[in-house]
Amino acid sequence: MTEAKKEIVLSGIRSTGNLHLGNYFGALRKFVAIQDDYDCNFFVADLHALTTNPDPRELHANVKNIVAEYLAAGIDPDKATIFVQSDVPEVAEMYLLLNMHVGIGELMRTVSFKDKARKALGLGSNEAENDDDFAKEIVGRDTGKRVNAGLLTYPTLMAVDILIQKATKVPVGKDQLQHLELTRRFARRFNAFYGVDLLPEPYDFDFGGQPIKVPGLDGSGKMGKSEGNCIYLIDEPKALRKKVMRAVTDEGPQEPNSPMSEPVANLFTLLELTSTPDVVAHFREAYADCSIRYGDLKKQLAEDILNITTPIRERINDIMADEDYLRRVLARGAERARERASKTLAEVREVMGIRKF
Ligand code: ADP
Ligand code: TRP
Repeated sequence: MTEAKKEIVLSGIRSTGNLHLGNYFGALRKFVAIQDDYDCNFFVADLHALTTNPDPRELHANVKNIVAEYLAAGIDPDKATIFVQSDVPEVAEMYLLLNMHVGIGELMRTVSFKDKARKALGLGSNEAENDDDFAKEIVGRDTGKRVNAGLLTYPTLMAVDILIQKATKVPVGKDQLQHLELTRRFARRFNAFYGVDLLPEPYDFDFGGQPIKVPGLDGSGKMGKSEGNCIYLIDEPKALRKKVMRAVTDEGPQEPNSPMSEPVANLFTLLELTSTPDVVAHFREAYADCSIRYGDLKKQLAEDILNITTPIRERINDIMADEDYLRRVLARGAERARERASKTLAEVREVMGIRKF
């Protein structure tokens, strides 16, 4: 009897910096947990990173960092396919082909495009608020501060990443759900236009339970690369302890059982993710009876975070030093990713009428 075909899972991370605790708890740790049960594909989206025109040396270094971090966090290249987006040239060709069925208007209306375009143009939050004014700002500028076309077609490229592998389960953060919705729309449109059933519609991967939001150390919001409030997996113990000790708190509970301010609640969220239940209970009681000393809480938190990150950091360093190993992993990953990609691309070319005479 043949083994039932595993569903295809695919996810990518842009190579724009090192991975942090948010990426670890929100994504990596979950990827590791599902790699036995699904046909998993994890890649580094270096072409997507190009949309914000990074320094070439930094981009190159970041690709290596992320691959090492994937591996160090426990993604097993014998189980999952790990690859770099630009190692699959079929993606670039299908991106060109799919763009023929994508509307400029629908791309311009995506939230992530608006955010990035506004940033590129240096628009304040009260400038060009409505769609007409926003469009005028973009059309009016072709030199200096401009919005590059790659930024506009970012969702096409992401749709191709997914569709070319025929992935149906795509674990992404909330901010990427709109891109996933567009991917489904593009797939339906393509299939309908050519009267084929070629590109399957992908959905968000539901891990079950509450989605995790790892907060930053600056008092509010989530931990994120662009927020500058991250604890990185690669942080050395000294730097990590310093970051945690500097976390924002408040003047402390003034009376028993007072409600918690957001910065303090955030520290408890981090503690819950990294400590044992009895440690969490101890500090909760101390908060409730006003005996808590935030310094003690932070010291404990730093050590508990280090318990998780230290083995990962050590593996990252080992892997980074072993370029042969990295090259082997990526060569194998590229080969596997290209196998499926070239098959899909051939089918797409065929139905679009691009074929040999
Ligand atoms: P960043 O916000 O730092 O740019 P990305 O958007 O590249 O991170 O996120 C990559 C993955 O990590 C996504 O799946 C996202 O859901 C997850 N992730 C990022 N930050 C957090 C966070 N603070 N809490 C939970 N998950 C997160
Ligand atoms: N756009 C995603 C992000 O910024 C990264 C990404 C690119 C991706 N292609 C993908 C995620 C395909 C999932 C599937 O996080």
